[in-house]
Amino acid sequence: MSDESCVAFLQWALPRMEMRWKGFRKVRRQVCRRIRQRMAELEVPGFEEYRTYLEGHPEEWRRLAPLCRVTISRFARDRGIWRLLGEEVLPGLAGSLPSGAPLRAWSAGCASGEEPFTLSILWRMELEPHFPGHPLEVVATDVDPAVLQRARAGRYSASSLKEVASHRVDAAFTRVEVEQGETIHRLRDEYRRGVTFLRQDLRNEMPEGPFQLIFCRNVAFTYFDTTLQRRILEGLLERLVPGGALVLGSHEKLPVRNPSWPLAPWVRGEPVYRLERLES
Ligand SMILES: C[S@@+](CC[C@H](N)C(=O)[O-])C[C@H]1O[C@@H](n2cnc3c(N)ncnc32)[C@H](O)[C@@H]1O
Repeated sequence: MSDESCVAFLQWALPRMEMRWKGFRKVRRQVCRRIRQRMAELEVPGFEEYRTYLEGHPEEWRRLAPLCRVTISRFARDRGIWRLLGEEVLPGLAGSLPSGAPLRAWSAGCASGEEPFTLSILWRMELEPHFPGHPLEVVATDVDPAVLQRARAGRYSASSLKEVASHRVDAAFTRVEVEQGETIHRLRDEYRRGVTFLRQDLRNEMPEGPFQLIFCRNVAFTYFDTTLQRRILEGLLERLVPGGALVLGSHEKLPVRNPSWPLAPWVRGEPVYRLERLES
């Protein structure tokens, strides 16, 4: 079964699930491998036949959708963004909070917790000493129960931590055991505190706002089609405080600008946007 036949299948199937082929080009091999396994289970010989099967068995779309999910993540992914958050964005957001108020953040599509826990580590190690009266509260959501289970366990291989400075790894993790020759790092409890994981499908459920900071990286603006991206963006903006920050992935762009979206880049060159305050 050739790569082209899988590509042709994905180009047909993804738009029917409100997703776009463009986002899958680089990750197609793992997605194609999973779909081939499913086809083998069904004893369907090729992608053309699987397409016919889907047309005759609409319930199969619910089996296909999770096979097209990409759950790759790592701590401190896109270091330039984390530098900007630590040096400018978080101090700005925390500095404008009313006395005693928490800093609330949402990680949408949080995978196995790498993104919300990177924020927690950054906050506790660098920001909290300057803003002691403001606890960090993070809501982290994902549709995939397997990644949420890993997030709650808080155990990571060294490859998930390769972008984190070694002194931070030493301070935030304990090395618990060796599995097949590999050291597993367990996040210390103090960095898990304040991070809540919820199973939610971004397409039809979002946590209650408002948030000062929302991450929506390498999910909607890579894999979803443009119509769905616009709908998701509306939901994100409804949950962001004026002056709050929306963080995208380093290769992502906002869907074609709707003039009613009052977003401005925080700085040039990084996918971090500020929700502008409306003039009264
Ligand atoms: C590529 S990972 C990105 C993780 C992290 N945001 C990052 O940038 O490193 C995408 C995550 O989004 C999740 N996801 C995909 N579709 C989703 C949906 N409809 N609702 C919520 N999460 C979704 C996947 O399960 C996966 O864990």
